[in-house]
Amino acid sequence: MATKISTEILIMILNNVQSTQDLYSSLLVNRIWCKVTMPILWELPLGQEYRRVEKLRNKALCIRTYISCMDTQARNLLIQNGFDLSSSPPQATFDYPSFTHKLIIVNLVNFVSVYSSKINPQQIIGSDQNNIKKNNESRLLFSEICRLIINRCTFLDSFKMTGTISNNFYEIYYKNLCNYSDLIGSILKLPGAPEVFKKLESFTSTIENDDICPLYESLISICDNILNMDLSLNSYSQVQLLPKLISVQKRLENLSIAGKSYLDCNSLFRAIISQKETLKSLRLYSVNLNRVEENSSPIDQFISLQELYIVECSGLHKSGCLFLASSFTQLSSFHYFHSEDVAQKYPQEFIIKIIETSNTNLRNIYLDLYPTITFDTNWAILNHCTKITELTLLNLRPEQVIAIFNNNFDELRRFSFGCGIEMFHADGLFCQMAENVPESLETIEIIMGYENPWIFSASSLRKFFEGWCCERGGGNKNIIVIGPRLFTLSDEHFKVIEEYGVQFDIEEL
Ligand SMILES: *[C@@H]1O[C@H](CO)[C@@H](O)[C@H](O)[C@H]1NC(C)=O
Repeated sequence: MATKISTEILIMILNNVQSTQDLYSSLLVNRIWCKVTMPILWELPLGQEYRRVEKLRNKALCIRTYISCMDTQARNLLIQNGFDLSSSPPQATFDYPSFTHKLIIVNLVNFVSVYSSKINPQQIIGSDQNNIKKNNESRLLFSEICRLIINRCTFLDSFKMTGTISNNFYEIYYKNLCNYSDLIGSILKLPGAPEVFKKLESFTSTIENDDICPLYESLISICDNILNMDLSLNSYSQVQLLPKLISVQKRLENLSIAGKSYLDCNSLFRAIISQKETLKSLRLYSVNLNRVEENSSPIDQFISLQELYIVECSGLHKSGCLFLASSFTQLSSFHYFHSEDVAQKYPQEFIIKIIETSNTNLRNIYLDLYPTITFDTNWAILNHCTKITELTLLNLRPEQVIAIFNNNFDELRRFSFGCGIEMFHADGLFCQMAENVPESLETIEIIMGYENPWIFSASSLRKFFEGWCCERGGGNKNIIVIGPRLFTLSDEHFKVIEEYGVQFDIEEL
């Protein structure tokens, strides 16, 4: 029955199947379905991110299958080094390693350590000699599987060193990774590797160990077609090499860089500018640009850049960076976070320059400025960003909130704000806001202080709803309160909320 679908279409359909369970079922339909599904399934073990340890442990069995795909020479090498390969008979039905196109190297590291502890469970933990032996065995297995995959797959489009940093689970295994970083560093020296990496489109490197630097050097000479890069610059060598890798790219679209506040990243500045034609999204975290030349010259437009995230960076007040700001003409989304930990005050001129330059292109702005958003910064938004649809401003004063409401933003759909005051009596604010609510406004998000919730009466809330929901048509409006644990409303408040039909959600800080 199912054979009526052409193979091309079947491939397209099965490529979109999300659940592994469903893929397993489609293996059983018939021979053709099986043949089409197998490559999709076998891209997963090394290419997907695991959020749960048990899941990863289960998948570690793929090592057995990979060993089955090894040639006699590799298998003999493993046997000579004490591996018992009885659970991996030679020759497999499919060429499983050839299906790898995404490689998250930490997966392989973890599979190898899970596999090794399974085949050698009797070893006494704590004996140094045993540990060294075991370590060497695992390293050998790791190298051989890397060699196998590089040898069999025709291309890799994604290569990640470490998973998502924010994922605790990967942190636990980070130490494991360091054990292999020299081997990972020389992966591109394997026969055939340059050809396999040539088509790389996504590259993530958040590894700290400098043993992997040879890999960067090889990538610089091989890869110039990367679209997405997510990099951490953790050491002086990485600050030297990674900007070079950025500079040689011909169609880089997404670039995310995390630096260290003590590491001068001046070299990065030129690398970013070299990508001004193609870059669509740029994210900078803790990047130190204090050594950027003071009097560099104007920079041509970043003609594609639409999204800019800057988080806890320093040095942006330098005139070189100001020239950078005035080259961002196309931004539609600008997020800026400044923490109190950054030694300098936030670079007001830089931020205002961005707002002036991108002006009506800006649709989405998020500013978390420490300690407050100044009058000048607020004024720039009021004057230049008339097409704004989403606006988040932390630490506003009440009069600044009112100024936003009175500015006739006629496309503003979502406004999030906080008034960085501990105890805040908001009755006056609600009544004033009521007088001029932008018609387009659908969502208001109120971010309260950590210690004390806002205080306001049910009647001022009613007044505000009257201004906002004319004739009780609050159906598509909603208020989100992000408040301290103690924030609660009285029955009277809830009556008003119900009466106007506004969706009201409270989230804990
Ligand atoms: C760049 O990132 C955006 C947002 O994360 C994503 O939608 C887009 O597909 C990425 N570009 C490429 C070329 O992958």
